[in-house]
Amino acid sequence: ARCQVAIIGAGPAGLALAHMLHLQGIESVVLECRSEEYVRARVRAGVLEQTTVDLLTDIGVADRLHREALVHNGFYLRFDRATHHLDFHALSGRHAYVYGQAEVVADLIDARHATGRPLVFEAADVSIDGTDTDHPVVEYTGPDGARHRIDADVVAGCDGFHGVTRTMMPSSTRTLTRSYPFAWLGILARTRPVTEEGMYSVHPDGLSVHSMRGPNLSRQYLQVPADTRLEDWPDARIWAELRRRSACDDHPELETGEIIERSLAPLRSVVTDRMQSGSLYLLGDAAHIVPPTGAKGLNLAISDACALSRALGIRYRTGDDSALRAYTDTVLPRIWQAQNFSWTLTSVLHRFGDDPYDWELRRATLVRWTESVAQQQALGEVYLGLPFPTSW
Ligand code: FAD
Ligand code: DHB
Repeated sequence: ARCQVAIIGAGPAGLALAHMLHLQGIESVVLECRSEEYVRARVRAGVLEQTTVDLLTDIGVADRLHREALVHNGFYLRFDRATHHLDFHALSGRHAYVYGQAEVVADLIDARHATGRPLVFEAADVSIDGTDTDHPVVEYTGPDGARHRIDADVVAGCDGFHGVTRTMMPSSTRTLTRSYPFAWLGILARTRPVTEEGMYSVHPDGLSVHSMRGPNLSRQYLQVPADTRLEDWPDARIWAELRRRSACDDHPELETGEIIERSLAPLRSVVTDRMQSGSLYLLGDAAHIVPPTGAKGLNLAISDACALSRALGIRYRTGDDSALRAYTDTVLPRIWQAQNFSWTLTSVLHRFGDDPYDWELRRATLVRWTESVAQQQALGEVYLGLPFPTSW
């Protein structure tokens, strides 16, 4: 088959791009290796920037989001047994929205199905050739067991950090990375959140994060060593550690309850400093990842999709491909702002060792953040979302 844009991966980047292209009358095929049920159920990020919500609203996929999302003004910081609220809304009039990534993805899948345009789940052995030309060829094995061929103009690599497209960049592409000696053990539990907005509890023994997905559903994370095994963390140990690290004098203790999902995520920062080669373009986690601290990953995926959608729109409407050629340069500055924000939060909120000087330095930063309106304004600008590099 022929299509204009072959999109590899049905995560937030691929699905958002497909929808924005559809709205501009540009044909695409989305190929996803997992099943639809799997993709709809995958628990990941949950905090959306105002900027992201504005875009989703603008492209008509935010009706349920506006009914169901929790609207937050900022977040809590807890240290030295005291709880402080950073109110970014009061300083900016903007909000953060708690709405699970699985919900964003489900809404985008529903929107795609409604257009009748192709979205193929369980597409195995995706292979891509000819990205050094203007007519790349994508092949895959469909759920029917047959091999299919797509002739496209452009391939959008939206297949995440473990996908195939990032491995296809020329060897001269630089990958800049930072790894951290810890991971996040995440749980989803049927308990009532203790605070009405997210909270980072900074404890000398490590970070714990208290977030939520609904009035009776909490999402919590523990900083654990990078080589941690989930088997070593039975429920009782998770709850005891969450309670110990978030102990305070001004709020009730954490409620414990049934844990319905658990996972381990290593903390890493990665940026591919060239996000295009020939007719291949990388978006979202395929090109860059941030540690989860600060919840930027999903938002960045959407902002890349926005920029590529616009560049493709210009090219198909006018034949002018200068915006496409400028794609990497257009998106990288915002990506580095998010890298910086995630790294800053990661550095201040986590335990790196037992040097008491480090702990005092980190505490001094926390005190500044809670006492200084100027600091809160600066944090809030990025937390609630810097402007996207372009409209869609
Ligand atoms: P993805 O969502 O990864 O989508 C890529 C898609 O491509 C997937 O559906 C995948 O199945 C598919 N795919 C992969 N390979 C192929 C192939 N060869 N052929 C076809 N399809 C393929 N961010 C936060 O802010 N907070 C969090 O708590 C958080 N938790 C996370 C937990 C985990 C385990 C992971 C992996 C990420 C987490 N993130 C979190 C990051 C955030 O979820 C990502 O930044 C976001 O999903 C990026 O979207 P994406 O569309 O670029 O990639
Ligand atoms: C989530 C919340 C956060 O504040 C964060 O930094 C990372 C993830 C969440 O709700 O999943």
